[in-house]
Amino acid sequence: MAKAWTPSSWQAFPAEQQPEWPDHGDLDRALKQIASYPPLVFAGEARSLQTTLGHVAAGNAFLLQAGDCAESFEEFSAVNIREKLRVILQMAVVLTFASKQPVIKVGRMAGQFSKPRSSPVETIGGVDLPSYLGDNINGIEFTSEARIPDPQRLLQAYSQSAATLNLLRAFSTGGYANLRQVHQWTLDFMGRSPWAEKFAQTADRIGEALDFMQACGIDPQTVPQLQGTSFYTSHEALHLRYEQAMTRQDSLTGDWYDTSAHMLWIGDRTRFEGSAHVEFLRGVGNPLGFKCGPSLAPDELLRQLDTLNPGREPGRITLIARFGDDKVEAGLPPLIRAVKREGHPVVWSCDPMHGNVIKADSGYKTRPFDRILGEVRGFFAVHRAEGTHAGGIHIEMTGQDVTECMGGAVAISSDALADRYHTHCDPRLNAAQSIELAFLLAEALNLEAVDRAARAA
Ligand code: PEP
Ligand code: CO
Repeated sequence: MAKAWTPSSWQAFPAEQQPEWPDHGDLDRALKQIASYPPLVFAGEARSLQTTLGHVAAGNAFLLQAGDCAESFEEFSAVNIREKLRVILQMAVVLTFASKQPVIKVGRMAGQFSKPRSSPVETIGGVDLPSYLGDNINGIEFTSEARIPDPQRLLQAYSQSAATLNLLRAFSTGGYANLRQVHQWTLDFMGRSPWAEKFAQTADRIGEALDFMQACGIDPQTVPQLQGTSFYTSHEALHLRYEQAMTRQDSLTGDWYDTSAHMLWIGDRTRFEGSAHVEFLRGVGNPLGFKCGPSLAPDELLRQLDTLNPGREPGRITLIARFGDDKVEAGLPPLIRAVKREGHPVVWSCDPMHGNVIKADSGYKTRPFDRILGEVRGFFAVHRAEGTHAGGIHIEMTGQDVTECMGGAVAISSDALADRYHTHCDPRLNAAQSIELAFLLAEALNLEAVDRAARAA
């Protein structure tokens, strides 16, 4: 029998990657204020997401989880939010059209601030300073003042999350996401990419399908799903004091929900057995992500699944594999087999970003696009061989024309990384690279659909 859970029971467990606050009085005041603020999401929405993720676990839908590595105060603008959403919608259209399956859209947005770091100290030119931990904790500038954790930043991050979510809700239901707009989603600078042409062709075919349906009496007036879409939010539940302050008891069911986002995930560095993060998240009703890296043993994963999802609810757990392109084909099958053997109804998603970081000759931290595609191919190949559903993709991207990941159809070289390298943490796919990836995924999903049809025949 598991021990009783409360929103603060995690405090008795080892909590890695937490800031060292200089003044606990200021911190407690800020957290008290946050705890008194309205929830950002409603428990019923988190339950709807879990239900649809259950369809992914059953092999009948696909999860697209995408957005920033770290949101920042500096990049906060309506244009940035809109363009990121636009690329996610474009990707979703490509994937839906190819797979003929619903695509569930979840942003790494409206709360993705806190970052785990491989070292608590950053050294530049012989100077040591505390590492940057995300805009909700300290500043990215390399000065000792900026790096002091400031509780006011938690309040600013809450406000930014609320405003971001408000705009996402407006765009996804207020007409912008209407499928009739599909041509308008093409971004100007996509013109240089061969994939822009391919997207325009897909958009034409969707337009024809909509014309045909309209002639049959099915249009946005009669079928509201064509007018808008469901869009969910997620982030890594890293900073546990903030997550605790956002955790509320649902008045309908009496269950606890972390109302800072619809879905929360546990990172690769904090997912160890007995961690404060596992303790906190086992008690909230939200659907959860769990990062699976090369150091995770199959028997440990099974114990963690028993802890986090003892009731084996479909869609509660999304396992996010992040091995690296050279490790996925050896590392993933033992985990898939163990989970299948024990009958855990999980979503398998591929994060081809976090296992593929290198330092370019020009000195920038980057991710070669070829390796990203390589991990995606490996992930799909493993699932085909195991007869399981490659259920999702988890990526770091932006709607801007940045130069952070090397390669792609409009090739970005090591030297070109300096042109528009804006990320506050890890390198992100730009809009053109994201669409290119969507077409590769579409191909892989098509192959899976062929297998499925063959098995059904
Ligand atoms: C992330 O998703 O930003 C991240 C830090 O990933 P991981 O925990 O897999 O390293
Ligand atoms: Co990252």
